[in-house]
Amino acid sequence: MAHFHLPLALSILALLSLTFPATGNYWRSGRQRPLKLEPEKLTHFQFYWHDTQSGPNPTSLNIVKPPPNNVSLSTGFGIVNMFDDPLTDRPEIDSRVLGRAQGLYGLASQNEIGLIMAMSFVFTTGRYNGSTLTVLGRNPVFEKVREMPVIGGSGLFRFARGYVQATTHTLNMQTGDVIVKYSVYVLHY
Ligand SMILES: *[C@@H]1O[C@H](CO)[C@@H](O)[C@H](O)[C@H]1NC(C)=O
Ligand SMILES: *[C@@H]1O[C@H](CO)[C@@H](O)[C@H](O)[C@H]1NC(C)=O
Repeated sequence: MAHFHLPLALSILALLSLTFPATGNYWRSGRQRPLKLEPEKLTHFQFYWHDTQSGPNPTSLNIVKPPPNNVSLSTGFGIVNMFDDPLTDRPEIDSRVLGRAQGLYGLASQNEIGLIMAMSFVFTTGRYNGSTLTVLGRNPVFEKVREMPVIGGSGLFRFARGYVQATTHTLNMQTGDVIVKYSVYVLHY
C-alpha cells in the first residue's frame, strides 16, 4: 500500500503554484477590457475565376480519380481537384489579376454534377492586398446562379461572413476549362 507523504505532497503543491503563478491572478484580476470594433460594413465586389486543367500550365489538377463504378461514370461522384486559380477583374485571362483562389473542389452529388468547394480568395492588389476570404459550400455547376457561404476571413476581412454568387461565363466541355464570375457580398469591420 502506498503511503501518503504529507511533506512531499506540500512541496509538490508549492512547486505547482510557483510554476503557474499567473493562472489564478488572471481570473481574479477582473482587468479584462472589452475590445472595440469599427461599425460593420457590407462590401460588394466581383471578379472572374479561371479554372484551367488543360495546356502546359494548368492551375487545377485532378488529385482523386473517379472510382470505377456506375454512379461515378454519370456524375463524376468522388473526383477531387486541387486548384490555385487566378482571379481577374475582367473575363479575359490577361486582365488585371486581383488575387488567387486556392483550394479544392470535389464532386459530392450522386444525382447531378454538384461540387463541394472549399477555397480561400487570397487578394494581392489594392486595398485588400494580404487579406483573405474563405468560401465553403455546395456548387451545382449547371445551375445558372450558385450561392455559397463566405464563412470567414483574415486581415481587413476578419470576422467576415456573407455569400458569393457564381455564374458560369464560359465552359469548354472538351477540356473542362471554365471561367466563372464571382459576385461577393461580405459583412466585415
Ligand atoms: C452498371 O451499368 C451496367 C450497364 O447499364 C449494368 O449492366 C451493371 O449491372 C451496372 N452495375 C452496377 C453496379 O450497377
Ligand atoms: C502587396 O503586399 C505585399 C506584401 O506586403 C507587397 O510586397 C506587394 O508589393 C503588394 N502588392 C501590391 C500590388 O500592392
